[in-house]
Amino acid sequence: MEKTFYIETFGCQMNVHDTEKVTGTLVQQGFRQVDTIEEASHVFYNTCSIRDKAEQKVFNRLQHSKRDAAKGKVFAVIGCVAQQEGQKIFDRAPHVSLVAGSASYARLPEMLVQLEAGNKRVTGLAFDATEAFDTPFTRRDNPHRAYLTIIEGCDKACSYCVVPFTRGPERSRTSASVIDEAKRLADSGYTEIQLLGQNVNSYRDPSRDSWDFATLLDAVGRVPGIRRVRFTTSHPRDFHKPIIDAIDANPNLCNHVHLPVQSGSTKVLDAMRRLYTREQYMERIEWMRNAKRPIAITSDIIVGFPGETEDDFQATLDLLEEVQYESIFSFKYSPRPNTASLTLGDQIPDEEKTRRIMMVQERQRAIQAKRNVSLVGTIEEVNVEAYHEAAGQWMGRTSRNRTINFRHANDDGSRLIGTYMHVRVTGAGPSSLSGEGLSEQPLLGESVAPDAEGISSSARVM
Ligand code: 5AD
Ligand code: SF4
Repeated sequence: MEKTFYIETFGCQMNVHDTEKVTGTLVQQGFRQVDTIEEASHVFYNTCSIRDKAEQKVFNRLQHSKRDAAKGKVFAVIGCVAQQEGQKIFDRAPHVSLVAGSASYARLPEMLVQLEAGNKRVTGLAFDATEAFDTPFTRRDNPHRAYLTIIEGCDKACSYCVVPFTRGPERSRTSASVIDEAKRLADSGYTEIQLLGQNVNSYRDPSRDSWDFATLLDAVGRVPGIRRVRFTTSHPRDFHKPIIDAIDANPNLCNHVHLPVQSGSTKVLDAMRRLYTREQYMERIEWMRNAKRPIAITSDIIVGFPGETEDDFQATLDLLEEVQYESIFSFKYSPRPNTASLTLGDQIPDEEKTRRIMMVQERQRAIQAKRNVSLVGTIEEVNVEAYHEAAGQWMGRTSRNRTINFRHANDDGSRLIGTYMHVRVTGAGPSSLSGEGLSEQPLLGESVAPDAEGISSSARVM
């Protein structure tokens, strides 16, 4: 019988990219990918446990799949919930037969053999990987923009965060294998690379070269054929000035930095064990403000952390005004298993968290609306990603990671997709930009226009 698989992904870009690697591995093992659960012999859920809501999603899916399992479908729970809950998943959803965390994906072919042999309780839960999951069988979905993992795991211990438990300790790839992969991506037509890691700034080449993150970033930006390099996520504690110097020196490095602050109050930052003060965070913002190209700064905010007073919360609102972020992701604090903040008293009621998150979002919307209006009339270089037939509009992304919808004289389908072109911003809303394409011909082969002004909204799959 033909083996087919359906895979659904929850969570961050690391998970999206893990799915690409798992998909490549499955295809290499003789599986065919299908679009629906009905067609699949194997169903994979690549899960996220960053907040309770994300975790509940997979259990809802599993609740509805019991009947399918009775018909012989194999169900696999992989990723962060798998690592966190482990064997308990078999108790909660007895029709699941594979539970594996991301540190075990290198053993996937072996686990598939065990499944094939009829084993109904296959697990991959050890943190035995000493290296990042480096597979040649990656199936990337986007033909122009590629994710590239440089470091896995996290050695920080933020008191609210499950990631150190679900992804294990930090493992950096060698710079040689990263550069090699970047070259292979360029050879197969990719022009944009997004370097991935829970904390890319603490990258340290395990080989004798001993490169740090800024050196690696610069080197990837110099791979012939690569025009844009992004990176996520940065931890303020490890975000050093040489990263800005690298962006200044190399126009292929996108002028966008996602630097999650979490809170504007040093007292709350201490309780979160973030290892920096508000002042130290602002020092990094100053470096970016003094950069040669205007750098788009985006952030993550948590509201309602245990003990967050009205004054602490005001400090976060003040910080939004002070930094003037391009965009933010905001979250209500969600208590997570194993984390240190579970034992903190003074939990904030959910209604209060809701009030605070709404205030944060309202404040940010006003900031963005003002910023966006100030962009009308400027010219952006965009990488064209899609054509929306119904609207007769193209969609592209700026170096600062802003998407912009635009019209162009030669609206004839897919000709421009994957190319770079100049677009004049003609309209702005709180979270969108619109414009008109300027170049008659795509700007293939030209370097990024370093003087283009723009703003960014980072896209995270959550
Ligand atoms: N509750 C709410 N938000 C969280 N994040 C991480 N852990 C939690 C939690 N327990 C947020 C942080 C992080 C982003 C990826 O998710 O803001 O930067
Ligand atoms: Fe979710 Fe964090 Fe795992 Fe990404 S690393 S999938 S955000 S829990």
